[in-house]
Amino acid sequence: MKENISVLISEEQIKTRIAEMAAQLNEMYKDETVYVVCTLKGAFIFAADLVRQMDMDVRMEFVCASSYSGTESTGKLVMKYPLDKTMEGKNVLLIEDILDTGRTLKYLCDYLKEQNPKTVRLVTLLDKPDRRVVDIQADISGFTIPDKFVVGYGLDYDQRYRHLPYIGVVNG
Ligand code: IMP
Ligand code: MG
Repeated sequence: MKENISVLISEEQIKTRIAEMAAQLNEMYKDETVYVVCTLKGAFIFAADLVRQMDMDVRMEFVCASSYSGTESTGKLVMKYPLDKTMEGKNVLLIEDILDTGRTLKYLCDYLKEQNPKTVRLVTLLDKPDRRVVDIQADISGFTIPDKFVVGYGLDYDQRYRHLPYIGVVNG
């Protein structure tokens, strides 16, 4: 089942990097309340590991916007699961699995900004800058990776491989 996957970023590397990212966030927000908006489905494992190292007052929210089927981005976005409360006046930290073309994050950022939050910041575990078509950057990014389709640690290929504890590349 997993023999066609080669490890790109190991479980250990992810763990180390998440500790660094959490330290940065703890410094950034200090004693403030942060509304963490986890984008489903891909960011669920990353968000779960990251928030457990965040020591301010954290509130969890979830959204699902989707533009993807198979390995090619369709460019069309649908809000499958919107926020169930307003982010007005709040510190919002959007957590994404991967920043690829940038369309999803741009769409979600615009969606959040319409609600007049106090601050909006973006955290992504992975960044594929070579693929960008929309001008958007994360405030904190875990790893910059080459233009390869990756799976694991929340990321899927047609809903498979999300449960792998590392980031891998599907061969063939
Ligand atoms: P964007 O809108 O093109 O930036 O795409 C973001 C979404 O595409 C992510 O949230 C993922 O669900 C999906 N995606 C992009 N690249 C990959 C990949 O290499 N592996 C798995 N999913 C990916
Ligand atoms: Mg996906």
